[in-house]
Amino acid sequence: MRTVNVRASREYNVLIGKDAVTALGSETAKLCPAALKALIVSETNVAPLYLDKVRNSLEEAGLNVIDYVFEAGEQNKNINEIAGMWNRMAEAGFTRTDLVIGLGGGVTTDMAGFAASTFLRGINVIQIPTSLLAMVDASVGGKTGIDIPKGKNQVGAFWQPLLVVEDISFLKTLPDEVFTEGMGEVIKHAFIMDTELFDKLQNAGGNIRDDEDLLEEIVYMNVADKARVVNEDENDNGLRQTLNFGHTAGHVIERDSGYTKPHGICVAKGMGIIIDACVRAGTLDENEAKKMKDLLKLYKLPTEDEITPEQIVSGAMNDKKKRGDTLSVILVNKIGKAEIRKMTAEEFLKFLSV
Ligand SMILES: NC(=O)c1ccc[n+]([C@@H]2O[C@H](COP(=O)([O-])OP(=O)(O)OC[C@H]3O[C@@H](n4cnc5c(N)ncnc54)[C@H](O)[C@@H]3O)[C@@H](O)[C@H]2O)c1
Ligand SMILES: [Zn+2]
Repeated sequence: MRTVNVRASREYNVLIGKDAVTALGSETAKLCPAALKALIVSETNVAPLYLDKVRNSLEEAGLNVIDYVFEAGEQNKNINEIAGMWNRMAEAGFTRTDLVIGLGGGVTTDMAGFAASTFLRGINVIQIPTSLLAMVDASVGGKTGIDIPKGKNQVGAFWQPLLVVEDISFLKTLPDEVFTEGMGEVIKHAFIMDTELFDKLQNAGGNIRDDEDLLEEIVYMNVADKARVVNEDENDNGLRQTLNFGHTAGHVIERDSGYTKPHGICVAKGMGIIIDACVRAGTLDENEAKKMKDLLKLYKLPTEDEITPEQIVSGAMNDKKKRGDTLSVILVNKIGKAEIRKMTAEEFLKFLSV
């Protein structure tokens, strides 16, 4: 088992390994000895596979366990489900020392975290991510939230977990296309901050799924990268913004599709678009750019989209990530090195169109 220690406003561990979930009960008892009850939040795809395993581990540690299982899918990442979780805990007499367990992909961990952050003004949450994306990104760093009709993740809170348990064997049941989506964020980490990860992915030749040891190592490297960023800039005022590489254009593509195109796919397209723009603007060497796009293709991710620069800019100006009249655009100057550049709408349009 590997451990990444996150030192944000709260310090906690991310445990990564095959069968990591077997450590859940004993770790929980150690970390919150006063807890008597736990609510497992999960969804209809994941619960039949793993809920009993998680429940058993918690019950062995003496906890009284209840669950809340919602219909899988981003369309259910909303306030009604959160209210369902609050009511379930209230009816079961939860107190401030009890806890929430998020068991699922990023939709689940975002919602479980948000329900925990608001119930009784905040109770502990332990995250058990089951998708690649949730392991390398969503469950680490304390961003929680839900969607509203006006947009994704528009309501939420920063709420760091008490512990994150990443059981690599859970990835075996992840559908191939969902795994590929998660690779978008993995490759993003390689591009913005991790040349060693880049080389490892390149050497693996496009398949990291069948070798569990390699997969564990790659998940570990990604969690360590994310933790490094969060430790330095928990509240997203500086360095953490580099994690948005590819996301400015990606979000617009995602929104324009009515959220039918998966996030990781849109981010890959967004990265491809920015990589091309960086080359044209002279901030990225052509060979580096080719290596980057080849890596995306190696992992079956797209690097292009028919969206126009005008559409990207007008969409981005409506996005929550704009600050004042400028956008923080993330560039990569060479593999492993990102730069945050403030641009006005006009400058961004020129950057994309040159
Ligand atoms: N908080 C953050 O920092 C952060 C960062 C990135 C993304 N997110 C959020 O994460 C969400 C996307 O995450 P996601 O891609 O994991 O979506 P998801 O939770 O919808 O999971 C994707 C699909 O995989 C299925 N699944 C998950 N684990 C499985 C397993 N082990 N076996 C079989 N099926 C499994 C799910 O049921 C679902 O159908 C978005 O809502 C996004 O906003 C949050
Ligand atoms: Zn993302």
